[in-house]
Amino acid sequence: MNKVLILLSLLLLSLSLTAQELSVDSGRFQKGDDTSWSAFDYDDNTWQVVSFDKAWEDMGLDRVNGIGWYRLHVTIPSSLRKGTVAAIMLDMGAIDDSDQTWINGHLAGQTGTFPEDPGGYSSEWGKRRYYIVDPRWVHWDRENVIAVRVYNYGDPGGFYRGTVKIVKPSLKYFADLSLVAETGGYKAVLATSEQTSGTLNMTVTDILTGTLETFKTQKVNLAAWKDKQISYSLPPQKRLKVTYSDPRFEEVLEAEVCAPYILTPPAPATPRYNGPLVFGVRPGSPIVFRLAFSGDKPMKYNVEGLPEGVVLDSKKGVLSGSCAEAGDFPLVFTATNDKGSAKTSFTLKVGPLIGLTPPMGWNSWNCWGLSVSQEKVMASAMALINRGLADYGYSYMNIDDAWEADERDADGRIEANEKFPDMKALGDWLHSNGLKFGIYSSPGDHTCGGYLGSLGHEQQDAEVWNSWGVDYLKYDWCGYSKVFDASPDKSEAALIRPYLYMQQYLREQPRDIFYSLCQYGRGKVWEWGAFIDANSWRTSNDINDTWESLYTTGFERQVGLQPYAGPGHWNDPDMLIVGKVGWSSSLRDSRLTPDEQYTHISLWSLLAVNMLIGCDLSQVDDFTFNLLCNNEVNAVNQDILGHQAHQDVVEDGMQIWSRDLYDGSYAVGIFNLNEESVPVLLDGVLDKIGLKAGTVRDLWRQKDIATDAEYVIPPHGVLYVKVLSSSPSRL
Ligand code: GAL
Repeated sequence: MNKVLILLSLLLLSLSLTAQELSVDSGRFQKGDDTSWSAFDYDDNTWQVVSFDKAWEDMGLDRVNGIGWYRLHVTIPSSLRKGTVAAIMLDMGAIDDSDQTWINGHLAGQTGTFPEDPGGYSSEWGKRRYYIVDPRWVHWDRENVIAVRVYNYGDPGGFYRGTVKIVKPSLKYFADLSLVAETGGYKAVLATSEQTSGTLNMTVTDILTGTLETFKTQKVNLAAWKDKQISYSLPPQKRLKVTYSDPRFEEVLEAEVCAPYILTPPAPATPRYNGPLVFGVRPGSPIVFRLAFSGDKPMKYNVEGLPEGVVLDSKKGVLSGSCAEAGDFPLVFTATNDKGSAKTSFTLKVGPLIGLTPPMGWNSWNCWGLSVSQEKVMASAMALINRGLADYGYSYMNIDDAWEADERDADGRIEANEKFPDMKALGDWLHSNGLKFGIYSSPGDHTCGGYLGSLGHEQQDAEVWNSWGVDYLKYDWCGYSKVFDASPDKSEAALIRPYLYMQQYLREQPRDIFYSLCQYGRGKVWEWGAFIDANSWRTSNDINDTWESLYTTGFERQVGLQPYAGPGHWNDPDMLIVGKVGWSSSLRDSRLTPDEQYTHISLWSLLAVNMLIGCDLSQVDDFTFNLLCNNEVNAVNQDILGHQAHQDVVEDGMQIWSRDLYDGSYAVGIFNLNEESVPVLLDGVLDKIGLKAGTVRDLWRQKDIATDAEYVIPPHGVLYVKVLSSSPSRL
């Protein structure tokens, strides 16, 4: 076959037409930049034919760091035309990093920004592109050219997720239906950029019984750029669903919400200790520890038994200083306010091991993504204290990616960018309040977000972090792929090497730095993490706020990992996805239902894993506070035995996970992964896992419950109990 024929058959193969959409999975590519390349009649014959399932680097092209163009030639059938609202839509998938897209010389849209744009370059590599195209720009039943200008920074570059789709327009491209929380219920908001007439339906269903309780229907007639708002009241544990249909379109818009319900009883006004019962510090390392007492403030604190060198700020309840001598120091904490006082026994363990209980705190990624700044970190830190989350043991304030400057200084030292004017001052402020300071980097030369990594500067970086007072390092594989992929050595040792390398410099620092590996579970990291003195390791890819992600990350990926967890080293299924999250400067409420959120926190409590809150703490609502600040639920997570729960039963969409606790009791989670609620007989369930129940306590409601009773577990919900068993030899 000659070249032209090969090319023709490639182009034909790349088009597959269905009634509703057309897919294109290859086109032509050229490095460089020229605005005339957007024109329909530009001659691109000499450009390379490329497929869209591979990034630039993987197609034998030179590494492209900069601008490249794609041109797609495609015949668009008039069967894809629909009304005058919008002719077609380009579904471009994800593009690494930013793009501008033209059709027949008309700009259809832009996602992300280019270096020459005001404000400079910003990546939107993970975002799906939908561009609505004016019908007048399309050459119906004839050839069209879609030209895509792409800016790439770091690898991979360009299209790499398969196909570009050309689809019929549908309602969702110009109308949006959402439910917004308001006092006592929710407001349905239908907003549109085009005229629409249709029907809005609303139903309320009981979550436990599945009974339909209310149905309302309403005709809507809206002009372009108008919206319709209707308020509904919604009692707890009811599901509200609204739908909107316009007869011109097949598709129906839907929005659904379940009213949150609070189970955690409010804390008493008198002092109550809610923190861990041990804290590990190496001899001579600075101690940063905040006594976690809830109750009315102001409070006065006292600590008995402090070893020499350790001091208490009796107003803030903050321990600092250091202890040169190794050993276990039994302490007694007392807190007093004008309502009363409380005491608790505690052990300060001065020795080689840190991270004796899973770290509790906050990380910026799930809320702010790359838009994190010192101001936002401070706002969350203040809220941690003022909203009272610090009274429950949350103490790490961890900055994720995007704090790094573009370049190192003349001596190769890493610096923070302009969003973080003073890292040392931030660290000092956190420490003065008993909070710990966390940072992020990569063993590669750049991070996932395209910022500077530590490759070749490991020792210097560890020293800089020490000078800022860093207490936690999340070390993210990401940019290291380049080094790993280029080497023939794919052994376990090659996976371990970059982490072991940083470990030696971290441990040389005169302060304790919790070492958190983030390489998504490669090479069964849990089998070797503890041997390289890591304190935790991510067991999976990134979590997000959907049930599917929670299920895979929390349930599937944790099965069988319990032998690897224990004081000083923990499995890490990623950060929490409750509250206001968004991975960007715009935040939304977690998309998990209230029951899914109870499941999430119960499971993380059972699994003895890192409890790093991922939301904006300055916007923690009462429901989220109830999830994060249940002292009995958190006490299981922080239990000093550090035994991670194991999966005992998987049956009919139900799962039972349990763990033993240092006081001889068991924590048991009975999870309903079904779409409907399921009644369970508690003693029958406990019997299945070999527990003869004595007292059973519902940990969310914080009250003892009968064992010979039936409990209805909501869809994707949980019954989380603590059991004093009369047959304790079970495990
Ligand atoms: C990912 C990591 C995320 C976040 C992100 C930052 O690799 O898993 O948790 O740290 O990088 O770019």
